[in-house]
Amino acid sequence: MDFSTFGNFLTSGSGILTLMEDIDSALTGSAEMRLLGGGNPARIPQAQKFFRNAMVDLLADGERFERLCGDYDGARGNTRFIDGLATLLRTRGGWDVGPQNIAITNGSQSSFNVLFHLFSGEFSQGKKRKILLPLAPEYIGYADIGMGEELFHSYRPTIEIRGEREFKYHVDFDRLDISDEVGAIAVSRPTNPTGNVLTDTEVAHLRELSIRHGIPFILDSAYGGPFPNIVFPEADNLWDGNTILCLSLSKLGLPGLRTGIIVADEKVIRAVTAANAIVSLAPGSTGPALVCAMVEDGSILDLSDQVIRPYYQERVKQAVVWVTAAMGNLPCRIHTPEGAIFLWLWFEGLPITSEELYTRLKQRGVLVIAGEHFFPGMNDPWTHRHECIRISYAQDSKSVQSGIAIIGEEVARAYNEDACRTA
Ligand SMILES: Cc1ncc(COP(=O)(O)O)c(C=O)c1O
Repeated sequence: MDFSTFGNFLTSGSGILTLMEDIDSALTGSAEMRLLGGGNPARIPQAQKFFRNAMVDLLADGERFERLCGDYDGARGNTRFIDGLATLLRTRGGWDVGPQNIAITNGSQSSFNVLFHLFSGEFSQGKKRKILLPLAPEYIGYADIGMGEELFHSYRPTIEIRGEREFKYHVDFDRLDISDEVGAIAVSRPTNPTGNVLTDTEVAHLRELSIRHGIPFILDSAYGGPFPNIVFPEADNLWDGNTILCLSLSKLGLPGLRTGIIVADEKVIRAVTAANAIVSLAPGSTGPALVCAMVEDGSILDLSDQVIRPYYQERVKQAVVWVTAAMGNLPCRIHTPEGAIFLWLWFEGLPITSEELYTRLKQRGVLVIAGEHFFPGMNDPWTHRHECIRISYAQDSKSVQSGIAIIGEEVARAYNEDACRTA
């Protein structure tokens, strides 16, 4: 059986597939695995109770339940949910949006598949454009969306060293070149993998650059505001007609419901609606149906700010203490954790690649993600790319603590082996 180029790409192995398979085999296999690699959100009892109650209400309402299972939603998504969300964003966020500015997708990953293809590739008169990622490391899930085509151009950041143990990336505006070959600027905020929250000034600058160059600003807010708002410093939540904001229900605790939300100019929403119809007729109905009432009464924002954010804030503090203890005098720095559900660890001068470290850790029952997968669109041979790993602190505390201890042991072993070799 011969596959097309597309088929060959799909079967050639991709980072995001390995990640999803790692998670699945760890969850379903018999070996004990500490799952510090995946992006699954934490099971937060108060949030779970909220969603369970919403599901009970839905099941009890015969007509709504029958409609949920028995009818397709429109290609743009569930009308009642979209109306409720537009009202929420207008009244609580002060955004100038209406239902015509919102579309539902089968998860943010599907949103990016459409959006990145809308703004990169072939344009009229033979022009070719790419998506500019102003700061890499950036989300691993973007990397293979081009199915073998390189859709991205990314830049290394500047690094601010903070005290003994931390550092923070900043956009290096002096290097950014926004030529005619850039179709859109895209960032995740908070950033997966680093937990970086670009400052309001950085965001305002990127917004201004995209307006000046007549290209959209794609803001991936899978962890950000207005929900689930896993953002620890004060940060603006703004929207304008040139911004394409991507939200998701996943990090609220509902990744299995595969619901993404795009807030954008009407022309973009019409294109996303057409893509939904062509690829899947309509987006899934369950996510919007489950949280519809919470959007209408605003409790989705309260759940985010009063339950979800404080939960992760507590967990990250604990995880930083464990990392500090496990790393001792090793040259380990943590990217200041400002949001999302990850710690990004940098081992300066690590004598093995982060991929080799990943393999050694997997053999010891700890799943992490090697840093080098988080640099889509970067050709720059920067050693830093091989010196970092991402760990999630969202899983049960015992696994996270013992996983971090094992990481400390394996990193120490790597440095010691090197010291013995060079002695
Ligand atoms: C930054 C970022 N964007 C998008 C996604 C995709 O989320 P979804 O589950 O809505 O497809 C993720 C998932 O981990 C993510 O980390």
